[in-house]
Amino acid sequence: MAGPLSGHAAETLALRKLATDKGLLYGTTISAQQVTGDPRFVDLVLQQAGLVVAENDMKWQVMNRGGRGNDDYGPADTVAAFAHENDLALRGHNLLWYHRTPNWFFDLDGRQEFESAIVERIRRLAGRYRGMVHSWDVVNEPVEPKDGRPDGLRTGVFLEMFGPDYLDLAYRTARETDPAARLVVNEYDVELDTPEQEARRMALLRVLERMQRSGTPVDAVGVQAHLSCAGGPPFSAVRLRRFLAELAGLGLTIQITELDVTDENAPSDEVVRDRLVADTYSRFLDAALDEPAVKVVVTWGLSDRHSWIVRKETHESKWRADGLPSRPLPFDADLKPKPAFEAIAQAFVHAPQRAAG
Ligand code: XIL
Repeated sequence: MAGPLSGHAAETLALRKLATDKGLLYGTTISAQQVTGDPRFVDLVLQQAGLVVAENDMKWQVMNRGGRGNDDYGPADTVAAFAHENDLALRGHNLLWYHRTPNWFFDLDGRQEFESAIVERIRRLAGRYRGMVHSWDVVNEPVEPKDGRPDGLRTGVFLEMFGPDYLDLAYRTARETDPAARLVVNEYDVELDTPEQEARRMALLRVLERMQRSGTPVDAVGVQAHLSCAGGPPFSAVRLRRFLAELAGLGLTIQITELDVTDENAPSDEVVRDRLVADTYSRFLDAALDEPAVKVVVTWGLSDRHSWIVRKETHESKWRADGLPSRPLPFDADLKPKPAFEAIAQAFVHAPQRAAG
């Protein structure tokens, strides 16, 4: 590939290698369906990624085939086995999420029943892959300042039943079940320079501090980083660096867990769009990787072929008004590297060395 990376031999142009050279771990989402049905994509994953995470296959509601105790572990097993057989780190996503809890859960009666269901969910899933998981998103998206609570926590069934202690229940159960897994609080919309996102950052810090005060085991923060390359809120490298330093100051490591860049509001011209997307990756990663507590970078997909922001059946963009397919990821739908790939590679090359974590 021409350009600023041309000094690197072709075989080093794998994101996994550029990342590990700096003590970073780079990964992508994958699905059981891709593992079994898209061998060319699988080859690309094996070439580029040192870590995988199931995009949907470990979500409670997705696994649950109707009724309590009726979870289908097949697709999750496929992803876990793929990671294991290929010596890839595995992220677990996720044990609890307000958004993907099976319907039957809401009909349970009384605190005891809720508690057993939560404990059962965590023991079964985290127990099944015990020793195989690099990190677990134990609770996904626990923060919502708009809900108006002084502690910044999202309201909902978990909170109603247990109050903030539901976090302690979840993280303690996860720790007991798989002591080797890093336990993560994974959150979105904490990257940009708006009052709303600043409120979310402050709320997340408060939640983490509270967890630490009450002895709840937490090791890392997941910054999702679903970004947009045009027409979105402004980005401030200074703000992001300050926030990441504050997280690091709590003694936590940081993982960028779901990075992608939507081109929803970018012009139709592909070259222009690809440039804007790549520049957004550069700006974000250059700032984020300055912080040595950032140890993991995961893009939410590797190729535009499988991005959640491209409608799978039609390959029409879900979010673009002109109907053109979105191009949010480092490789295009034909698995060719795009400027976004080069931007990520360069960010890894320029990243300061850090201790792996
Ligand atoms: C998304 C998946 O990518 C989609 O395929 C699915 O339809 C909805 O969920 N934050 C998260 C992820 O934590 O689990 C979400 O994944 C994207 C937003």
